[in-house]
Amino acid sequence: MKHVGIIMNGVTGRMGTNQHLLRSLKAIRDQGGLSAGGEVIMPEPLLVGRNQAKLEELSARAGGIAWTTSLDEALSDPKNEVYFDAQLTDLRFGGVEHAIRAGKHVYCEKPTATTLGPAYELYRMAVAAGVKHGVVQDKLWLPGIVKLKRLIDTGFFGEILAVRGEFGYWVFTGGDPAEGGDGAVLQRPSWNYRKEDGGGIIVDMLCHWRYVLDNLFGPVKAVSCLGATHIPKRWDENGKPYPSTADDAAYATFELEGGVVAQFNSSWAVRVRRDDLLTIQVDGTKGSAVAGLRECRIQSAANTPRAVWNPDVPNPLDFCAGWEEFAPGEPIENAFKAQWELFLKHVVLDTPFQWDLREGAKGVQLAELGIQSWAERRWIEVPNLPILNLQGDTA
Ligand SMILES: NC(=O)c1ccc[n+]([C@@H]2O[C@H](COP(=O)([O-])OP(=O)(O)OC[C@H]3O[C@@H](n4cnc5c(N)ncnc54)[C@H](O)[C@@H]3O)[C@@H](O)[C@H]2O)c1
Repeated sequence: MKHVGIIMNGVTGRMGTNQHLLRSLKAIRDQGGLSAGGEVIMPEPLLVGRNQAKLEELSARAGGIAWTTSLDEALSDPKNEVYFDAQLTDLRFGGVEHAIRAGKHVYCEKPTATTLGPAYELYRMAVAAGVKHGVVQDKLWLPGIVKLKRLIDTGFFGEILAVRGEFGYWVFTGGDPAEGGDGAVLQRPSWNYRKEDGGGIIVDMLCHWRYVLDNLFGPVKAVSCLGATHIPKRWDENGKPYPSTADDAAYATFELEGGVVAQFNSSWAVRVRRDDLLTIQVDGTKGSAVAGLRECRIQSAANTPRAVWNPDVPNPLDFCAGWEEFAPGEPIENAFKAQWELFLKHVVLDTPFQWDLREGAKGVQLAELGIQSWAERRWIEVPNLPILNLQGDTA
């Protein structure tokens, strides 16, 4: 059995706790480790944070996992081979840089930074240090998107024409109704709505759309994006009002190499009347599909109804009935766990892992260009980010 010490920084947060600790590393531990290449890889998480009480509580919830409030101590222990970071986005650079300097392999949440400069610098530093590196690109392992990929690979769509993504849901403002709030419990951390704290939906979501588009439909060539701050005032975790300084909606169009047109609406100010919180519709000459987080529905050319525009009579077609579920059958793992398993194999067995800090920087790049497109009200081309070699030169 190969034990791999993993420093988990920012683990008391929403993503760190639920997706990375409980549903990924604890789940791998509970199943007896990860069998690969004749070895069993056993992750040994070390919880790192500032608040002792929170760490103790989380440790107990996860079955008595080790914890510390000293990152330096964690980094100086050679048993800890991997540093994982799910802190606030603005803190990522410092944490990951520190870990690379300590010679650790690094894996972290996206966005890796809020602007391209530091995001690419992390990639450069990791390459120069010769450590392994990875960035969370979880949507690629969502069952709905895995199914879309399968449909693409089997040629179901014929020529793909366009991709339309709808992401979002209503995020309550919080706050006392007597003071104009909606009285609801917050679903998301308040920093998400403050630019000065690394918030904003463009920097959050365009990172995801970059890797989804690049990996499934073709490299993103150009972007046009309009952002908005629809809800100008919100209330924080302590019930204190604050002005929303970050964008809470983004209406973006992407041009892909190969000619596919992609549009993604992302909003925290939209009420859901669709199959899921994220739906992606793909239209091709031979068929179409609509994927949610888990399900995927398809309509082939032969099943396509002949729609005729006539608002003077009730529509005779049941458009929703003309789709069938695409259910290839195999159980699909939690998306974060699936990517963790690949990263652990990469660390221990040196298997390939393509979702690295350069890929993470590409997501940040698209977000930055989206913000620029909004500010300048124009289309922007997406330049290639050079691949570097060990000396830090362009490979
Ligand atoms: N992959 C995804 O789909 C996805 C989804 C949501 C969030 N994220 C990303 O994950 C990261 C964490 O997001 P979250 O929603 O879990 O946020 P969160 O606010 O719930 O958690 C943030 C973590 O950072 C820590 N932290 C906060 N301030 C700190 C400080 N000053 N010093 C040290 N630590 C501090 C907190 O204690 C907590 O552990 C963000 O970068 C976010 O963009 C990714």
